[in-house]
Amino acid sequence: MSISIALTKGRIEKEVIKILEKSNFGIDELKNKGRKLVFNDTKEDIKYFLVKANDTVTYVEHGVADIAIVGKDTLLEREEDYYEVLDLGLGKCKFIVAALPDSNIFNNGGHIKIASKYPTVTKKYFQSRGMDVEVIKIEGSVELAPILGISNAIVDIMETGTTLKENGLIVLAEICDISTRVIINKSSFKLKSNEINRFLNKIRRCIK
Ligand code: PRP
Repeated sequence: MSISIALTKGRIEKEVIKILEKSNFGIDELKNKGRKLVFNDTKEDIKYFLVKANDTVTYVEHGVADIAIVGKDTLLEREEDYYEVLDLGLGKCKFIVAALPDSNIFNNGGHIKIASKYPTVTKKYFQSRGMDVEVIKIEGSVELAPILGISNAIVDIMETGTTLKENGLIVLAEICDISTRVIINKSSFKLKSNEINRFLNKIRRCIK
């Protein structure tokens, strides 16, 4: 049976393609992709789609992708019904709370506003610290929010720390580590267990 795999565009795309290549999948089409959206493996009965992180989870949820390769940041933001089976150990970064140096949100009473692309993660984290904050959803370049004064701090992912540094923000707290994970649609795992295990074993041998 054929399997389909949703891959995340952007930040982790190159590293994931490298792992697929090392694991001996036929990813020539993915390497020369142009504007195509669906790619056939040239060695195995596998189709790949390249989509935005959130969409990989949606496709797995609806069973049109059997497998997705996606960051833990996206999975933490939308805890849904799939199996998370493997940590690829790449795309490593952290969820952090950051702000301008003079703002001390943890020792300040009063109304605190936090900007983030990740409202669920943000709410949960501040709830766990017993703080009731207002969360403002921002789609990108979240570092701008405290600079423009729309929020007191941000919750975002930090990889090298360069974006924070270049915009004069500092880390106030680390929330958790993030890396790239493999998730599987629950029914696919039963119906296509041979094909899915074959895929996972090839990847496992390569990342060991
Ligand atoms: C992410 C994140 C930070 C930056 C962190 O944004 O939101 O802005 O990367 O990386 P660094 O610590 O290595 O500087 P991304 O590039 O994915 O784009 P976005 O801000 O438009 O979401």
